[in-house]
Amino acid sequence: MHIEPFFVEQWMNAHETRATWNIAETCVDSLRLDELLSLSGDADGVLRRLRETRLGYGDIIGSPGLRAAIAALYGERIGAENVLVANGAIGANFLALYALVEPGTSVVSVQPTYQQLFSVPEALGAEVRVLRLRAGDGYLPDPERLRALTDDRTSLIVLNNPNNPTGALIDEPLLREIVAVARERDAWLFCDEVYRKLEHEPGTTAPSVADLYEKGVSSGSMSKSYSLAGLRAGWIAGPPEVIERCLEVRDYTTISCGVLDDALATVALEHLDAVLERSLQIVRGNLAVVDAWLAREPRLHCVRPRAGTTALIRYDYQLSSVDLCQALFDCNGAFVVPGIAFGEEHSFRLGYACDRETLVGGLAATSEYLRTLEA
Ligand SMILES: Cc1ncc(COP(=O)(O)O)c(C=O)c1O
Repeated sequence: MHIEPFFVEQWMNAHETRATWNIAETCVDSLRLDELLSLSGDADGVLRRLRETRLGYGDIIGSPGLRAAIAALYGERIGAENVLVANGAIGANFLALYALVEPGTSVVSVQPTYQQLFSVPEALGAEVRVLRLRAGDGYLPDPERLRALTDDRTSLIVLNNPNNPTGALIDEPLLREIVAVARERDAWLFCDEVYRKLEHEPGTTAPSVADLYEKGVSSGSMSKSYSLAGLRAGWIAGPPEVIERCLEVRDYTTISCGVLDDALATVALEHLDAVLERSLQIVRGNLAVVDAWLAREPRLHCVRPRAGTTALIRYDYQLSSVDLCQALFDCNGAFVVPGIAFGEEHSFRLGYACDRETLVGGLAATSEYLRTLEA
């Protein structure tokens, strides 16, 4: 089986530990264990329970408490029995795609997005058709263009909402139109929803495909919106037959996700409001910093993100995105991801959910480098 190298992960691995200004990261500035314990309001109680925990495999598919807390992120269609815990969203995506993709069928995936979402179906023997999201459409999928890419062989449509790298947000009316296209083909609709709950406009929540469609399957994790990537706790939420198929695959890849990760993820979701309040304060405040910076950089252009932690920034300079990002890194250690990782040349992905000091320093360092291109 051939699988394309995962560009964005390779780029991150090669640079992130050496970066002076890491403004490529997609997680909200990670919580320390101590901070999570304080947010719980019962640090002593949580620590006591952790000390008493037996370090066996624990609940194989995720503890009942964790699965119930995850189910509560969805509507009535999703109960704890519709949830399977996986090794991060990356593990959840792999399991779901392995379970849903049939070789010889066609899969339509949006692009730009996280490469796993189309490279895995391709490796599994599907014909992948790309629905390219366009800046002029606010990087939103056009249901008519989507419909035109489907046919009788289409078994799966893949979305990422909110989107990495653009921060675009598919709202409920548009998602319902996409569901209608999937239903016409009796296709599965899989959506990576790892940035859900990080909507910038107060009162806006990204809808979930698992709530809107009987063949909708959602993935999520503790990494991004909840600032807890170190827990490696993700999930799949969907209809029982998908959960069963994922379980068959999961037996070969994952025994359990670790009792300590499970326990801490449960604590975080039980104190969801406090965790999200912190995350939203960071992303909303930092996006205002990015807005002000972009206003001073006339050769940079961006469709303003509506959710998530990233923005895709297009530039008017004559360098390839790899050359620009590498030269920037070499110039002063400012670290961003080349747009080509998302099939978008002459752009880079900025991750703006880091601590404020890193963001401000990283943007200043980027400007300093851009000036050298103009000299
Ligand atoms: C869209 C998307 N899905 C999945 C992942 C993997 O996240 P996790 O840490 O939950 O495995 C990422 C990480 O960048 C992502 O951006």
